[in-house]
Amino acid sequence: MPDIRNIVILTGAGISAESGIDTFRGGGGLWEQHRVEDVATPEAFERDPNLVLRFYDMRRAAIQEKLPNPAHDALARLDRAWNGDLLIVTQNVDDLHERAGASRVLHMHGEHLNAWCTYCDERSRWTGPLADRPPCPRCGARALRPDVVWFGEMPYRMEEIYAAMRTAHLFVSIGTSGAVYPAAGFVRDARSLGAQTLELNLERSQGSSWFDETRLGSASEVVPAWVEEVLAG
Ligand code: OAD
Repeated sequence: MPDIRNIVILTGAGISAESGIDTFRGGGGLWEQHRVEDVATPEAFERDPNLVLRFYDMRRAAIQEKLPNPAHDALARLDRAWNGDLLIVTQNVDDLHERAGASRVLHMHGEHLNAWCTYCDERSRWTGPLADRPPCPRCGARALRPDVVWFGEMPYRMEEIYAAMRTAHLFVSIGTSGAVYPAAGFVRDARSLGAQTLELNLERSQGSSWFDETRLGSASEVVPAWVEEVLAG
């Protein structure tokens, strides 16, 4: 891979699938037995906050039982060893990249293990439940919600993502179906900014034809193999 110094990696639910975390579009349109619009929209939270908070409490508890898999480990290895710029932009709200040891990680859809106070705007690390309406550690208001981006809300830190894309020589997409924008459009943006583009996925994503190269297989196999290749120069 000639002249690659700066890398942007986009990850999706597929990278955590082998850790036992369900993907979004694998379960017949249902997400853990719920329709997305019943649990992952601001309207759902207004209509039935208890249902939404209980749903996220369950997910928050579940991800803490899961472990990073060889794909997370390989990206952490790359992060430690890579001297050029590197940004792992994840759509995932789990913390498996961090637990594998990666530090250059940006959560564009938020994090399960954060609570957001809608009263004072503080974000706090949160591992327990929210359905019992605990007070915000900063202001005391009982106005905490999961710090995850719901449908219809703006993803986080888009300026930082585009700044990294502008100088990237390589854009790699791992384990994402390419169904949700703006992340689904990154490959086109990266191409038009002059980066090479590589897709690593179990099956072709919706935007597969935009990639220069696609390698199909499970993340725990194709990601470590690709990382070894990159580190070998
Ligand atoms: P999806 O569930 O849409 O897609 C997961 C992708 O991972 C699919 O293309 C699968 O083929 C692939 N996959 C499954 N198992 C895999 C494995 N073992 N190895 C490699 N690939 C595998 O998940 P995302 O694309 O991440 O947004 O979904 C994007 C966004 O939609 C999510 O962040 C979430 C959701 O609604 C919000 O919550 C805002």
